[in-house]
Amino acid sequence: MTPIDIDAPLALLGGRSPTEFMRTYWQKKPLLIRQAIANFTSPVPAAGLKKLAKRDDVEARLIWQENDEWNMESGPFARFPKIAEPNWSLLVQSVDLHDDTTAALMQQFRFVPDARLDDIMISLASRHGGVGPHFDSYDVFLLQGKGQRRWRISRQKDLSLVPDIPCKILQHFEPEEEFVLEPGDMLYLPPHIAHDGISLSDECITVSIGFRAPPLAVLARGLLEVAADQLSARSGLGFGPYSTPTLPGPDLSGMFRDKGLPATTQPAALPDELVHSALAAVQKIAFDERMATRFLGCWLTEPNSLTVFPISQDMIDIDDVLERQGSLALDRRSRMMYRGADLFINGEALETKTNATFKKLADVRVLSTADLKKASADTLTLLQEWLDDGWMVAI
Ligand code: SIN
Ligand code: CO
Repeated sequence: MTPIDIDAPLALLGGRSPTEFMRTYWQKKPLLIRQAIANFTSPVPAAGLKKLAKRDDVEARLIWQENDEWNMESGPFARFPKIAEPNWSLLVQSVDLHDDTTAALMQQFRFVPDARLDDIMISLASRHGGVGPHFDSYDVFLLQGKGQRRWRISRQKDLSLVPDIPCKILQHFEPEEEFVLEPGDMLYLPPHIAHDGISLSDECITVSIGFRAPPLAVLARGLLEVAADQLSARSGLGFGPYSTPTLPGPDLSGMFRDKGLPATTQPAALPDELVHSALAAVQKIAFDERMATRFLGCWLTEPNSLTVFPISQDMIDIDDVLERQGSLALDRRSRMMYRGADLFINGEALETKTNATFKKLADVRVLSTADLKKASADTLTLLQEWLDDGWMVAI
């Protein structure tokens, strides 16, 4: 896995470079790319998708239309409608966490930061199946994996939804453009573009490479939580959610005092001094980049809630990997990021730990024998721990 050359034209982006794509289309306008991936077939076929949708550690939904009414059911599923029956779609979320080929496909989109990449959802639809006209709040690449799908899209401003139904369906969809996608064709949609994809085949598979963008309120709340953890740790009131020590916070160990408090004739009135003290105390908290980095690093690398790392029965030793000239790779479920000296892996913060080896592991997700030979003893100790925890695999 070599890093993507962001200035070289890519067939994946219709002969545009990632730099050009990001500048012209990302978050701005739709782009249809014919044969983004030549000879492409879905990394997971219909049978594999049904198998995944039966598992209780996989998020799946079945959406079908009956007498003009939309229905939705969440998995796991024991059975599915027959593919010969029209008008249904099975949507399987986060397939990249369960299948290596799908995880490898996701790597092709890493010209966008991992912090923005979310998951790969794969849908299987019978003829005429779809999820109805809707909009998403996130960017998405819709890559056709099998059969044909007709996409109709619109830049309409009216995004009001049909009330009181289980699916998100636009009340008034006014399509402006229409494309029929064949396997390997791909449609990029920025957030809030109305769209409707309908299967034109008996078995239609669409692969959605989806992104995430945190709501600003969630970002603010995250920082407030880190601040709250700092205060709890310093005052001995509790511990933060992370196994790593909380960041040092302000000293608020004292108590409120009101020496010289005058006698009152209005005992139920809340004293001003108390109100002002609360404000003065909170103003001692420094909301800085370190705090934001800590929140984002831990939060964005938190594994999917259904993830269980497979722990190998026979312990693998890095020395043995080196001896046979092997490599180490991050497990497809592992999330790793860094900023400056701070390193984050699977929800844990490792302060001042970033070095060339860890940076390479996070960016490329693989360490070769040569990389391992250059690593310090401390680095190798951590890598061995991650190998033992199933966060990494030997290849
Ligand atoms: C689908 O694959 O059927 C739905 C994808 C989408 O419209 O976001
Ligand atoms: Co959509």
